[in-house]
Amino acid sequence: MEFQNCIESRRSIRRFTEQAVSKEQIEALVRAAAFAPSWKNSQTVRYHAVCSKALRERIAEEATFSFSKNRMNISGAPLLMVVTTVDGISGYEPDGSPTTTKGSHWQSFDAGLSVENFVLAAAEMGLGSVILGIFDEAKVKEILQLPEGESVSALIPVGYPAESPNCPKRKSVDELLTVHE
Ligand SMILES: Cc1cc2nc3c(=O)[nH]c(=O)nc-3n(C[C@H](O)[C@H](O)[C@H](O)COP(=O)(O)O)c2cc1C
Repeated sequence: MEFQNCIESRRSIRRFTEQAVSKEQIEALVRAAAFAPSWKNSQTVRYHAVCSKALRERIAEEATFSFSKNRMNISGAPLLMVVTTVDGISGYEPDGSPTTTKGSHWQSFDAGLSVENFVLAAAEMGLGSVILGIFDEAKVKEILQLPEGESVSALIPVGYPAESPNCPKRKSVDELLTVHE
């Protein structure tokens, strides 16, 4: 797919077919994510592929703050990717002190860059995905027994699209851009 077309045609997909996502596809998505830039090339973003339906159901039921839309987003997808970041590295000095005034901001920034590569690569492969920010981090950590020192950045249900939503309205370049001359 042509690059600009891929950027503009990618949509958040919230309804999926039952067709599985293969291990090779998962690896290709994470490989695309691996090429995202990161703070001092620290590469602190991690991907936990939840292939177990039972675990996905538990996350959907117990870790969505009863937000029914996200419960459905997760339980209706054949794959849930849980994106984490290793704490205290991106944006920090080796002694643990923050390099800038922005604390853990850069950790989140790196996660966003990585996830954008992931969702664009998914779109290019004909897969749909949606980034979820509304979830109970402590519950997700407990259910998946995630390693100490990793924060959960986002949940991403992935699968073949069973819908083709219109593009939500975008702001114009004039609204977004200020030129300082
Ligand atoms: C940080 C972040 C958090 C989001 N959280 C949710 C969420 O919890 N549930 C959901 O259905 N969509 C969520 N979305 C998807 C946005 O609603 C969606 O990206 C936006 O409406 C633009 O639509 P598009 O992705 O199709 O261009 C989230 C997106 C981002 C980037």
